[in-house]
Amino acid sequence: MQKIFNVRTEEDMDSVSLFIKEIKKVNQIVLLTGELGSGKTALVRRFAKMHGIESVMSPTFNLLHIYSNDKIRISHADLYRIDSFQHIRELNLEEIIEQSDITFIEWAEKGKDIFNSYPAIKIIIEFDKDCRRVEVVWQ
Ligand SMILES: Nc1ncnc2c1ncn2[C@@H]1O[C@H](COP(=O)(O)OP(=O)(O)O)[C@@H](O)[C@H]1O
Ligand SMILES: [Mg+2]
Repeated sequence: MQKIFNVRTEEDMDSVSLFIKEIKKVNQIVLLTGELGSGKTALVRRFAKMHGIESVMSPTFNLLHIYSNDKIRISHADLYRIDSFQHIRELNLEEIIEQSDITFIEWAEKGKDIFNSYPAIKIIIEFDKDCRRVEVVWQ
């Protein structure tokens, strides 16, 4: 299935976050596609904020951040800077996914087929100067 959101501000990403919350399954993965600066991390930040977590930063340097409170455990990986498939393997993402309520992955295409066995929500963000088109695709 597919749904399109047009968002202008980072706060507008709340409508996408709310939708993800509604269609989310157990150990859900969310694969984020879009150029640098398109708003992938911003979407994770708004989703976390909706669940009472305020501290989401880009995981570009750590590659993986895990946020949790008494309601939810959110993992957030960014594979942009990763240099080898072996290094991706070492992140143990399968285990992370299974231990999280939801795992957001930026640049998941670098992980080749690691994510194929999980039901995924795919988010494709395209952006212009002042408007973002956010496409959500799910099964
Ligand atoms: N929907 C949006 N509307 C306006 N600005 C946004 C939106 N989403 C993100 N931004 C801004 O764009 C910049 C880059 O966003 P970021 O989420 O880090 O991109 P990415 O993770 O895709 O590289 C940030 O300064 C952020 O505040
Ligand atoms: Mg990012």
